Amino acid sequence: MDDLTLCRAAADAMNNSYSPYSGCRVGAALLCSSGKVYTGCNIENAAFSPTVCAERTAIFKAVSEGERSFSKIAVAGGKDGKIDGAFPPCGVCRQVMAEFCGPDFEILLVTGRDTFKKFSLSQLLPEAFTL
Ligand code: THU
Repeated sequence: MDDLTLCRAAADAMNNSYSPYSGCRVGAALLCSSGKVYTGCNIENAAFSPTVCAERTAIFKAVSEGERSFSKIAVAGGKDGKIDGAFPPCGVCRQVMAEFCGPDFEILLVTGRDTFKKFSLSQLLPEAFTL
């Protein structure tokens, strides 16, 4: 799957965001080595800490289906569902990526309609902690 198609899948996944507290709608689309794509959205909670990010929703959906090898993830987000520049992954999501993905794993940050910036995991999480 090409990068732009994956970015569009991430933007589409914003539609399912459950974000009544922050108003930030976030979507992610994870491309597995198998060729399958898993999407995810952020899911908020009144107690705040149970909130899960779009990236982790997509990764955990994939892992729970037996996937273990990933090539790239696209992320799209913005206040009130408006994409107005990149919505970069939080530190917790970067650490979860490091658990399952190598340093060359690609992270595509959607910046607008049909535009995105591309980073490697090692760029966004240098000196990653793993065991
Ligand atoms: N959020 C994500 O979905 N992904 C990130 O990596 C950063 C933050 C969500 C969590 C919360 O619902 C909202 O954005 C504001 O923090």
